[in-house]
Amino acid sequence: MKLSLRNSFLIFCAITAIIFISLTLPPSLGDFDIRIVIILVLLLINANYQIEIEGRSFSINYPLLFPVIAFFGPGWASLLAAIGLISVNEFESPKFVFLFNRGSLALAAGFSALCFNQLSQSRGFLLALTVSTLVYFFVNLILVIITLLFDKETRNDIPFHAFIDTFKTLLPSIAISALFYNAYRYLDVFGVVGGFLIFISLRSGALLGLLEANYRISLIKALLRAVYAKDPDLMEHLEKVAYYSKLLAKRCGYPRWKLQILDEASYFHDIGKLEIADDILKKSSSLTLTEYKEMQTHPERGLLFLKEIPLPKTHRKIVENIALYHHERYDGKGYPFGLKGDEIPLEARIVAVADTWDAMTGKRCYREAMSPDNAIAELWRVKGTQLDPDLVEAFIEAIQAEIKHSPQNVTKKLPIQKAL
Ligand SMILES: [Fe+2]
Repeated sequence: MKLSLRNSFLIFCAITAIIFISLTLPPSLGDFDIRIVIILVLLLINANYQIEIEGRSFSINYPLLFPVIAFFGPGWASLLAAIGLISVNEFESPKFVFLFNRGSLALAAGFSALCFNQLSQSRGFLLALTVSTLVYFFVNLILVIITLLFDKETRNDIPFHAFIDTFKTLLPSIAISALFYNAYRYLDVFGVVGGFLIFISLRSGALLGLLEANYRISLIKALLRAVYAKDPDLMEHLEKVAYYSKLLAKRCGYPRWKLQILDEASYFHDIGKLEIADDILKKSSSLTLTEYKEMQTHPERGLLFLKEIPLPKTHRKIVENIALYHHERYDGKGYPFGLKGDEIPLEARIVAVADTWDAMTGKRCYREAMSPDNAIAELWRVKGTQLDPDLVEAFIEAIQAEIKHSPQNVTKKLPIQKAL
């Protein structure tokens, strides 16, 4: 059987790891410690119950392995990394890849332990921990990159973003490793087991949060499908308002942690229109006074609609503020309450600007779309009366930058299905 260069390298890593383990493992089995088996079991549990949140997961493989690195030396660290970090899914991968994974983890843990042993005596614990964590990360990284370079298909598609994501977890990884180290030092293996149980329970809490978020997103998708079925134009309007609201929110210093909520919430600003009859909603001529009054009920209808939806506390206020107040005017002449200036919640003032912009630049059944230049001139005209003057200025800056760099976002339809 002729091995490819890539497969030869995969096997080379596995063999090097075996040689490393046999050279560094204590020669006498009399040194064997039952604690190692307990940590091995924890490692196996951890490797098989990783929880991904929004496609990412934070692993405590290294922190859990760290007491072995620090107290049992390179041989045991290397062996435990090879057999303790196996997830059952890995048995489905090609045998050379499986062997390489074992080998690269063993070598990374082994070199990390060698570094820790050297540095902890001469340079202190913190530096030794930091360097040994970096060594673990980079040995793994370099071996994986070499493997990817051997393969024509993966050579041009190296996932650097995934490496950067892992790199970002190094600092928490160092902190948790220090915790596990001290837990072992003061409480023996019971400290490590206790720390692991605490981590598992915290992670379960995160899982519940994830399930809740998934449930909410499914609900939003179902509602948006209903909107799209009833009125595709309204759906396009909701999408564009969400897009422009986020664009403006980023410019005007809206708290970053609320941006995602604002994005979801602005889809619902006109949700009350679902209860307005089609002959009013899609009328191509001017509305009568009665019809106009009926149309003006949509913010309060929207609020009642949203009250029925289960939302987290962080979301509810923002979603309701936008639905109820997005037709209030800065000069107090809006509806339904005639609130003035800063009495109108910031997110509602943001959506009001985005809503006005899309109402002007989008085509309606009763008129043609306005050009971006004319719409900007109109924004200047209503600045300080209908709309918040600071937000209008920020929006015009944002939209002009958008026209310059991505004009398609301003003039073309956004992909309606994006949100569905
Ligand atoms: Fe509206």
